[in-house]
Amino acid sequence: MRRLLALLMACASVLLAQTAVRASDCLVCHGAMQGKISLAKGETIEVHVDSAGFTNSVHGKNDCTTCHLTFSPGAHLSPKDKKVPAELASLVPFTSLKAKGDPVALAACVNCHQTEYKEFQASVHGRNIFVKKESDAPLCLDCHGDPHYILAASDKNSKVNHANLLETCGRCHENEELDKKYGMSPYVIEKDKESFHGKKYILGDKRVPICNDCHGSHGITRVDASASPVTGLNKIKTCGRCHAGAGAKFAAAPAHKYIGAGNPIPFYGEKLLIVLVFGVFIFTISHVVLESWSEIRDNVLRKDKKKGHGDE
Ligand code: HEC
Ligand code: HEC
Ligand code: HEC
Ligand code: HEC
Ligand code: HEC
Ligand code: HEC
Ligand code: HEC
Repeated sequence: MRRLLALLMACASVLLAQTAVRASDCLVCHGAMQGKISLAKGETIEVHVDSAGFTNSVHGKNDCTTCHLTFSPGAHLSPKDKKVPAELASLVPFTSLKAKGDPVALAACVNCHQTEYKEFQASVHGRNIFVKKESDAPLCLDCHGDPHYILAASDKNSKVNHANLLETCGRCHENEELDKKYGMSPYVIEKDKESFHGKKYILGDKRVPICNDCHGSHGITRVDASASPVTGLNKIKTCGRCHAGAGAKFAAAPAHKYIGAGNPIPFYGEKLLIVLVFGVFIFTISHVVLESWSEIRDNVLRKDKKKGHGDE
């Protein structure tokens, strides 16, 4: 009898193991459903999750519920009241400022990426959300993209790949309203594109630094903070990583070349030069056109007219 019970229990545990949530349990619906749905809060969410895209992402081996911790197997018609650890729960009021669908999932990253999460929380971006309770700064997904298709930074399609960061950070740092609200000097992106590094970057040079090479990624500080990698002695070290023997003089070169409102002389100088070049161009072309016209007029039109008069 005892043996039978043990056997039954073994069978049950195998069955239980099989009822653990698999990505495929959720993809039955979410792989097939298409389009957007409005939630009770008024947020519009995308219900489709591309199965192949998810499998190819860095989290392709994860079950959906490793992030969607409050979800039970099957259709989630019952309330999502599964408990999460207190540390994680304490993040949820803040991730709610950014998440549309599932703020618990946006906090769950901390379970596996503790270092990045903690470093981020203390950064200028993190404090905007976790201390000031604003939602203007980026949280994980603003930089890494859709949570279901995150790629390694080394993948050239990753939003945080060297080749794409100008655009990823630029989405916000080209926004004059944000610059005004947080007292940041404007035209950071435009200035970066105009710098010696930026010009080469746009041509596809992989060796030149882009935003995170100088400012960091998760632990970004205000540029005038003492821990900032772009002030004082730290700046010399930052430049020195690539420019061997860089001293204070070298590091003084402006990283974001001042143009626009920052420094009107080169800005308008450049505009003047453009006007001059095009002016000369247009002058030459109109000169040639007018000259040709006068030739035609004198030799074809007027000749005919003269002939006509003479014949009468
Ligand atoms: C029977 C079909 C079905 C299954 C199975 C299913 N879902 Fe859903 N899911 C839906 C529908 C419909 C919606 C949109 C409306 C809603 O929230 O109920 C949705 C919405 C969501 C949302 C966003 C809105 C919210 O409720 O927070 C998440 C996240 C989600 N599902 C995750 C999952 C996960 C994880 C699984 C697997 C454990 C899963 N779903 C299994 C049908 C399904
Ligand atoms: C790496 C963590 C992670 C995994 C794994 C994951 N999700 Fe998500 N998912 C999230 C986060 C974070 C959000 C919240 C995005 C937001 O609300 O802005 C989300 C949102 C959603 C939504 C709502 C869409 C929206 O626009 O908010 C659905 C539906 C969903 N997930 C389904 C799934 C399904 C199905 C799987 C498994 C195939 C899965 N998720 C696996 C992190 C994850
Ligand atoms: C301001 C943009 C930004 C935000 C916000 C951000 N990351 Fe990143 N993350 C990056 C960049 C850039 C890289 C790649 C280069 C690097 O590692 O510095 C990266 C790399 C990573 C890596 C790879 C390991 C590593 O450190 O190189 C992990 C894991 C990661 N991020 C997790 C997260 C999590 C979790 C969050 C949310 C707390 C987050 N990131 C928020 C920009 C960001
Ligand atoms: C259950 C654990 C787990 C959770 C939860 C989780 N991740 Fe990951 N994540 C991983 C693992 C494991 C890898 C490494 C995969 C590999 O090396 O191929 C990874 C890789 C990454 C990378 C790529 C690192 C690189 O190489 O550049 C990023 C970015 C990342 N995760 C962000 C997130 C974000 C954002 C969340 C929350 C929405 C999250 N992760 C939630 C386990 C997790
Ligand atoms: C070569 C290093 C370097 C690179 C690359 C770089 N920065 Fe900077 N950044 C600096 C330094 C140094 C400062 C301090 C002011 C100055 O010298 O221009 C700064 C200032 C800033 C400021 C503060 C502006 C203010 O005055 O309030 C922001 C925001 C900023 N950078 C964002 C970015 C972004 C976004 C990128 C990528 C497009 C980027 N940086 C690329 C070094 C760099
Ligand atoms: C979703 C919008 C958003 C994205 C994306 C973003 N930032 Fe920011 N960033 C902000 C906001 C908002 C602040 C000001 C926060 C505050 O002061 O509370 C800020 C502040 C900063 C500062 C400090 C500025 C100062 O005055 O000293 C730097 C440096 C910076 N960001 C760099 C970056 C870099 C590098 C990236 C890309 C890896 C990036 N940011 C991506 C919104 C963004
Ligand atoms: C990730 C590596 C990297 C970092 C960090 C870096 N640079 Fe550069 N820098 C380069 C490369 C590569 C070039 C182009 C060299 C060439 O084509 O000859 C360059 C070119 C320059 C030039 C043009 C003249 C020259 O020496 O070629 C100046 C000036 C310069 N950097 C200043 C700085 C300053 C100031 C800092 C720190 C705020 C800095 N760099 C940080 C990689 C870097």
